[in-house]
Amino acid sequence: MVKEHIYTVIKRSLEKLNLPVENLNITSPAQESYGDYSTSIALQLAKSEKKNPMELAQTIADNIESKDIIGKVEVMKPGFINLWISKEKLLGNLSEIAPSFGNTHTNAGQHVIVEYSSPNIAKPFTVGHLRSTIIGDAIANLLEATGATVFRDNHLGDWGTQFGKQIYAIKAWGDEKQIEESENPVKELVSLYVKFHEEAEKNPQIEEEGRKWFKKLEEGDEEAKRLWKKCIDWSWKEFNKIYQKLGIEFTENDGRGYGESYFEDKMEPVIEELREKNLLKESKGAELAFFPDDKLPPLMIIKQDGATLYATRDLATDKFRLENPRYVSDVTIINEVGAEQALYFKQLFELEEMLGWIKKGQRIHIKHGMYRFKDMKMSTRKGNTIWLEDVLEEATKRAKGLAKDKVNEETAEKVGIGAIKWNDLKRSSHLDIVFDWDEILNMQGNSGPYVQYTYVRCKSILNKLDTSVIPDPDPGSSNMNEDELTILRTLNKYPEAVMEAAKNYAPNYITTYLYDLSQKYNLFYQKHQILKEANVNTRNFRILLTQKVSIILRHGLNLLGIETVEKM
Ligand code: ARG
Repeated sequence: MVKEHIYTVIKRSLEKLNLPVENLNITSPAQESYGDYSTSIALQLAKSEKKNPMELAQTIADNIESKDIIGKVEVMKPGFINLWISKEKLLGNLSEIAPSFGNTHTNAGQHVIVEYSSPNIAKPFTVGHLRSTIIGDAIANLLEATGATVFRDNHLGDWGTQFGKQIYAIKAWGDEKQIEESENPVKELVSLYVKFHEEAEKNPQIEEEGRKWFKKLEEGDEEAKRLWKKCIDWSWKEFNKIYQKLGIEFTENDGRGYGESYFEDKMEPVIEELREKNLLKESKGAELAFFPDDKLPPLMIIKQDGATLYATRDLATDKFRLENPRYVSDVTIINEVGAEQALYFKQLFELEEMLGWIKKGQRIHIKHGMYRFKDMKMSTRKGNTIWLEDVLEEATKRAKGLAKDKVNEETAEKVGIGAIKWNDLKRSSHLDIVFDWDEILNMQGNSGPYVQYTYVRCKSILNKLDTSVIPDPDPGSSNMNEDELTILRTLNKYPEAVMEAAKNYAPNYITTYLYDLSQKYNLFYQKHQILKEANVNTRNFRILLTQKVSIILRHGLNLLGIETVEKM
């Protein structure tokens, strides 16, 4: 990669001058006028070397070799060294841009479990779960693209005392056949659950009935188990529809993921280990893990009534992951879960470190912010729940209206869902999002449809040609204009963007990159002829650029879980 090469040549210059290289750091300035790459090493060394930073920068710059790759080196106040890649090198690299350009081996050998989505059985698949699904999937894709072995897990919320109430409600007021045949079984289950709480207001006795049913479930009672399993099947049917629409697949437990219930019989050893290591303290009949110096609030592991909790199951989950030969013991475990659980995950990770299970940094919580709805109609139409199917359907409908050509349902769905995904990925995931259709579908701005349209634009040019006969440009005879050059520079940086995105678990680096590339290409497209260009060499070069742009747009969109379309 070009960046590594730049690192090496500057390092050589430092070594020649007997300067320390430890702090050498290369950045890629956003503004091209500051170079393709830049380093502040002279500024850092000036003090210890007792030199004027500008002079030191100049000396380092003068000793940089490999002028064939570097087109220009400039020293800039107060002591930066900015470097530009030569046009020849940029042109020469163009042939490397094939469909797998962007895939690297930087994370080769690393094993990562990415756990995302994790909706709750018999509850709505919320927009929070949607965010987790979209972001988690993109992160898994990024890690895979950088060579890691990735396991995609889904920690379904399929266990807990609420199932006692749910079972009671189904038995008391439900009609199994009707739920079975319903288009939206979860809605039926939710209304039964709501009814349970309404009834319990009037008749608190049924709370006790709910508890009894959960106890039965824990003890393996046939009827309790049957209904609980039904709840899972009914919910999964609905969740699966969503996953299919979104193009999401999990790899663990035959594609279902290891839900909380899987760990029901795996908690006991964890509790024993916590006791053995003296990490549990009794308080008012419950058992809690306390943290040194109370730096975090205590975490409850066993309730007063002896029941286990979400945390107990998470501990068992991680023990399973760390001990299972399917994974390696230094597997990195990532949970993509809403920011509201940040404290909880801190406690969980801290406790796992205290147990001696993990090293620092081995457990990662990727937080996402909340959705806020600008269009209030959408959030109130059906009570307070926003049904995801409605959002996805609406997106498809609106995408259809957006298209210039008449597009089929499949294309509209790809654009609509792509738009929702882009909107979720275009900023740092921990930030809240205002859900605004105008922004999501804005053809002029930072949106999925804008980038997808840029791809369509490229393809409509390329589809008119037999691109296999377009020769590679002659690196020697380059007279590119600025618009072409800036595209070329941007294309070259794509693998670095992927690496940085993977390193920081930040899909928004990819959206930023793709949006920038799209803008540059569209500007170029507006200003210059492509197919009608008279000079054959120039024409060929522009076609080639178009082709490379399309390859990268497609690769990048796919990393984000967004499919391209050929027409819109
Ligand atoms: N089911 C949970 C919820 O909807 C999310 C689970 C997250 N993962 C975990 N390992 N705790 O809030």
